[in-house]
Amino acid sequence: MHPDFWQQRWANNQIGFHQATPTPLLQKHWAALGVPAAAKVFVPLCGKTLDMAWLAAQGHPVLGVELSQLAIAQFFDEHALTPDIRQSRYGTHYRAGAIEIIHGDAFALDAHALADCAAVFDRAALIALPPALRQRYMGALYPQLPSACRGLLITLEYPQQDRDGPPFSVPEDEVRTGYGSHWDIALQERRSIPPEHPGFVNGASRVDTVVYALHRR
Ligand SMILES: C[S@@+](CC[C@H](N)C(=O)[O-])C[C@H]1O[C@@H](n2cnc3c(N)ncnc32)[C@H](O)[C@@H]1O
Repeated sequence: MHPDFWQQRWANNQIGFHQATPTPLLQKHWAALGVPAAAKVFVPLCGKTLDMAWLAAQGHPVLGVELSQLAIAQFFDEHALTPDIRQSRYGTHYRAGAIEIIHGDAFALDAHALADCAAVFDRAALIALPPALRQRYMGALYPQLPSACRGLLITLEYPQQDRDGPPFSVPEDEVRTGYGSHWDIALQERRSIPPEHPGFVNGASRVDTVVYALHRR
């Protein structure tokens, strides 16, 4: 997706992906990953997700990255936090308490930027990207994370011919091919989303959500 696409979505408040509560599948599966309590968690393409606040409440420092300055401003406003601001080669860093969000391009982050991230959480990040960018996300961004890093990945699967993304359908074989050379992948849960559920993808004939645990070799 061109960055303008996302800037427009935020400017027009077309943020149907944003959830008013933390992701239940994060709350259900996080503990089983075994991430040490004080370990930093990377949240790529973070928007203003409440998952960052939930992870911080578990004791984790959080590092988000987000293209939209509006999203970042709304996150801190809505949590009544006034962030400290600094610049780096990765963008503008906003930090309040345990939560730091880089206003910048996730694809510009390197191993130095992510060196102390012991875990990664992806909800609505991989599936927000069209196929070529997904290859870059899995094949170029994730390898910047340190060895032994753990991750929780939540995807959607539906017949892609039913509608265009985002969100895109990301089949299990694409996840296994995309991450398999550097990460061990364990399917934690596959669940059908009923049409009346807010997480259902409009225009799709059926939708599954799939949760994977990742472990960087
Ligand atoms: C579908 S939203 C999901 C946000 C969040 N993960 C959530 O669960 O609410 C995708 C977000 O990624 C951001 N984004 C897209 N491409 C990006 C990039 N290359 N670098 C950083 N953020 C990006 C968009 O601005 C948007 O807020």
